[in-house]
Amino acid sequence: MNKKSVKDVTVKGKRVLVRADFNVPLDEQGQITDDTRIRASLPTIEYLVKEGARIILASHLGRPKGQVNAKYSLAPVAKRLSERLGQNVALVQDCIGEAAQKAAEKLQDGQVLLLENVRFHKEEEKNDPEFAREMASLADIFVNDAFGTAHRAHASTEGVTHYIPAVAGLLMQKEVEFMGNALERPERPFVAIIGGAKVSDKIGVIENLLDKVNALIIGGGMANTFLKAQGYKVGKSLLEEDKLGLAKQLIEKAKSKGVALELPIDVVAAKEFAAEASHRIAALSDIQDDEMALDIGPASAERFSTIISSAQTVVWNGPMGVFEMDAFAKGTERVAKAVADCKGTTIVGGGDSVAAVEKTGVAERMTHISTGGGASLEFLEGKVLPGVAALQDA
Ligand code: 3PG
Repeated sequence: MNKKSVKDVTVKGKRVLVRADFNVPLDEQGQITDDTRIRASLPTIEYLVKEGARIILASHLGRPKGQVNAKYSLAPVAKRLSERLGQNVALVQDCIGEAAQKAAEKLQDGQVLLLENVRFHKEEEKNDPEFAREMASLADIFVNDAFGTAHRAHASTEGVTHYIPAVAGLLMQKEVEFMGNALERPERPFVAIIGGAKVSDKIGVIENLLDKVNALIIGGGMANTFLKAQGYKVGKSLLEEDKLGLAKQLIEKAKSKGVALELPIDVVAAKEFAAEASHRIAALSDIQDDEMALDIGPASAERFSTIISSAQTVVWNGPMGVFEMDAFAKGTERVAKAVADCKGTTIVGGGDSVAAVEKTGVAERMTHISTGGGASLEFLEGKVLPGVAALQDA
């Protein structure tokens, strides 16, 4: 990565503002249901503690739209961080103002505090310069470790970099390096697997990847639009009629680039979109008018697995079917296992595919699982992430 990291600056005795992505899922009782993002932020925080920095953590949680709302308080995160770090992480009630200033001034070397949700101020998402300046005034150095929020040009990700020296945290560095290397210097064969419901969500990703990969596997609801573009009947499957022309263009582009575009060769079809719906395996030529494809079929899963097994680099974003329903989860599970068995570098990005590898129990066997949903998608699209671009060059 061509940006300075937290290891390139002296932090001892300095107040360091760390933007993390603590946007973790909470249940109705406000309990954290998955603390992956908190655990992923620990290497940077622990490094700063060890180096004797005075650490001020900032994050958003949910979308409180500029209003103070207890439902989106970072209190559960402060508690979990205290447990994980083995020191009390106090939560300051506001991310700017007198209380935050005083708490920051009182910090001792190696101590950590957490500022309350930055999105309790509408100025955060507007990237308001005065608000950013106030937040930056709490610290001497800014460390951005919030890869999951790097696609947002907000005050706490981009704005603050105009006022104090800004460098990447260890998680940010790891994410950008893994995905950047895969895209720019992949060991070949390089295979991408793209799934999910809609082509329209993934156009940018497909277009960018067609310039880079040897094979592109397409599954999930979006595959129907490609199948229809090839002349198959897809019954009442999810279909984007207005994207048929685009799907044809992408098929042509793949051909002209010598990229193997791999679509399902069979599907799991049902008459209803329901967990209990009766279902059958159908050949592409045999999808009935009253049926919908809800998963890739076993022959497709087998074929995709063979292609994945010979890859040296795999990037995966999006499930192969409606994996939340057991009856339609097999295709995604089979692909997850194939990616886990692959000897090459394997990178999984995007909320749904991460949930799928976790459900399949193979998360530990992936080379890298991104903490970014929207951010990893934009990265795969080849877009510049404002939270990264704003950091000091190495
Ligand atoms: C995410 O969960 O993708 C990030 O935390 C960004 O959240 P946002 O989409 O609300 O900006």
